[in-house]
Amino acid sequence: MTVRIMGTGSALPERQVTNEELARMVDTSDEWIRERTGIGGRHVSTGETVAELAARACMEALTDAGKEAGQVELLLVATCSPEDATPCAACQVQDRIGAGNALAFDLNAACSGFLFALHTAWAYITAGIYNNALIAGSEVLSKIVDWEDRSTCILFGDGAGAVYVEKSEDGGIISFVQHSDGSRGDVLSCGSRQIRSPYFSGDSRKMEIRMDGREIFSFAVRQVPKAVEEGLEKAGLAVSDVELFVLHQANKRIIEGIARRLSADCEKFPMNLQKTGNTSSASIPILLDELNRNGSLKRGMKIVLSGFGAGLTWGACVLEW
Ligand code: UT7
Repeated sequence: MTVRIMGTGSALPERQVTNEELARMVDTSDEWIRERTGIGGRHVSTGETVAELAARACMEALTDAGKEAGQVELLLVATCSPEDATPCAACQVQDRIGAGNALAFDLNAACSGFLFALHTAWAYITAGIYNNALIAGSEVLSKIVDWEDRSTCILFGDGAGAVYVEKSEDGGIISFVQHSDGSRGDVLSCGSRQIRSPYFSGDSRKMEIRMDGREIFSFAVRQVPKAVEEGLEKAGLAVSDVELFVLHQANKRIIEGIARRLSADCEKFPMNLQKTGNTSSASIPILLDELNRNGSLKRGMKIVLSGFGAGLTWGACVLEW
């Protein structure tokens, strides 16, 4: 018995911000951003929240799967940019969509969050605790980006993606690989709130994203191919058996570097970062939804999902669509 994705959904804020628009704000250009990252634009929240975007994506995933919110048993939201410390975004989504019978909680593993949430759902379902789950990756990174830092503000975008999964006897998830390395947390970090305790005597915290781009770049190109190979070995499959690699959409050059290291055809690595930028935990489910809706995903196809990011965290999932 395993777990299979039965429906997908996504939601993006209406407002789109082009590279040219950013070039009027910081010292950059459309040419530099496209060449170094592949990003042409991104969607930015003008008020849409993590919970609101996640709820829209979840409703689409349920409709795609032909299910009602009341049938959902587990509701997970992966996010590193929730508006509130509590209640968690998943409980807010539960209320918005009327998934009153679900257990709901958040999970934060930054850009690997969706993948880790999918694995969590897989563990609950294969353990026999629940029969199905609704899993969203949702981010409003524009709240935590330093809009004066040209090396980061050009990268990120807002949005949400979701999948509905359920217990299945055929197809679905074949293998999982997950890794964390907390000793490298400083490479990509962001404080979540200033400490207001009168007893606290530490330094004030940086509340925007700080990143060593080159370090993240080389970490991703080194570790992701290894994780993918590990996942494929567990699944008893070869790189050549995989029809699509759905990777976290961080940077076109990172994805191309990973494809080269795997000796895989770049055509098998679909990308939508041209329009969405890096949406962290939302990027994999947003891309999955796009591929599902444009008919690129066919039942029986072998697919690899892979996420990587702050923590550091990274992993891969091999599945049959
Ligand atoms: O989900 C994971 C999240 N993180 C990532 O995905 C980040 C991964 N890293 C990257 O995508 C790349 O490292 C960046 C796109 C962030 C930077 O590209 P790079 O090719 O590694 O550039 P660099 O940091 O080596 O900087 C090269 C130059 C520097 O100028 P000098 O020192 O050579 O004069 C930067 O100041 O480019 C400059 N620069 C920019 N120039 C124009 C940095 N950002 C910009 C910019 N526009 N936006």
